[in-house]
Amino acid sequence: MPIHGLSPTAYPPNPAHFDIEKVIRPNILALHPYRCARDDYKEGILLDANENALGHSISTQASSSDASVYDPMLDMDLHRYPDPSHDSIKTRIAALRDVSGVDHVFLGVGSDEVIDLLMRVCVAPGKEKILITPPTYGMYSVCAQVNDIGVVKCPLELSGQAGEGGTEGRFSLKVEEVKKAINADASIKLIFLCSPGNPTGTKLPLESIRTILDYENFKGIVVVDEAYIDFADEGSSAVSLVKEYDNICVMQTLSKSFGLAAIRLGVAIAKPPLIQVLTNTKAPYNISSPTAHLALSALSPSSLATMQSKIKTLIDSRAALLKSLSGIAHLGLGSSIGSNDANFVMVPVLSKDGSRPDNVRAQKVYKSLAEENGVVVRFRGNEPGCEGCLRITVGSEEENATVIRKLELVLKQF
Ligand SMILES: Cc1ncc(COP(=O)(O)O)c(C=O)c1O
Repeated sequence: MPIHGLSPTAYPPNPAHFDIEKVIRPNILALHPYRCARDDYKEGILLDANENALGHSISTQASSSDASVYDPMLDMDLHRYPDPSHDSIKTRIAALRDVSGVDHVFLGVGSDEVIDLLMRVCVAPGKEKILITPPTYGMYSVCAQVNDIGVVKCPLELSGQAGEGGTEGRFSLKVEEVKKAINADASIKLIFLCSPGNPTGTKLPLESIRTILDYENFKGIVVVDEAYIDFADEGSSAVSLVKEYDNICVMQTLSKSFGLAAIRLGVAIAKPPLIQVLTNTKAPYNISSPTAHLALSALSPSSLATMQSKIKTLIDSRAALLKSLSGIAHLGLGSSIGSNDANFVMVPVLSKDGSRPDNVRAQKVYKSLAEENGVVVRFRGNEPGCEGCLRITVGSEEENATVIRKLELVLKQF
């Protein structure tokens, strides 16, 4: 059954073993998407969508604590439903990420919506599964449970030094184990890889991803979550593989490098058939007008230049933070365990004698930092391969100085 709304192409799929029509659930393939009022006509006296003809009711005084400051957001047509497709945003994202056009880009309410949507379109509840590689982002499992989808776990390599590359070293992908898991269970439809990983902070080599894409026993889709990609070295992004492969979907977000977590804008980049399926399935107006307005501004050339400069500052601060952390290592703090490719670092709190990672001490340090010292980091010691670990987001220069000062204080205490 052809995908509704997809222009026919003459090209055979790559890899040859991939057939999207066998991956997408039959009820989704058969779907005739909801046609909203704005799909038909965009201009004229718009009396077709039961909007409020008198406009919004937000008073200028209510919009700001300072009545003299006018909020330009109020000039937007807030009484109108938003554009269902937001092609202007997609065009800018396609140019930024170097894919050929809007038909390669899907916009979601954060990557979290994209994760959920991918599961809903591909994986049959109560029957089929996803594969994840712990330690990894917690939403994959939560979302799978919500959708009544099974989860196969194939842990990353948990020993050795991080950043050794290839299939060796901590937090690398165990490609042969992933293949074994695929062979053992034909119901795996999606493989979620996180690069750079959360909480590992470690990017995956593109060659490992390519090996799974090429593995003919896997007929599903490889989803690469690149929420932190802009903090990694140039050339690390799996978007370069989207040009070649039909069975990859790369997720990105404006929540991290763009500093826009509040607006909730996530991105999926893939070949047009999968993008069309996601578009057919989403709620008609998932991206709000205020979000779209801010996202478009964030993607202007001058905003992108500011973003690049902030990324550089955060990368420099990450190095400085790691250096400062090593300066207090004698208090029982190990070296960072990931390869530090994201905007956070993972450091193990050790036993007082420094002989081993210590979850009990780490939890005391974590709690005291938050409750007595006003510094909130994340305890990640219960994740596989992360014993004793605190995940510390790279902050501003001042915040980083404070976290070090407080950590030093607390490590002396416990
Ligand atoms: C790996 C990873 N993916 C996705 C997300 C969620 O991103 P968004 O804010 O776009 O929903 C996060 C947020 O922390 C994350 O760490």
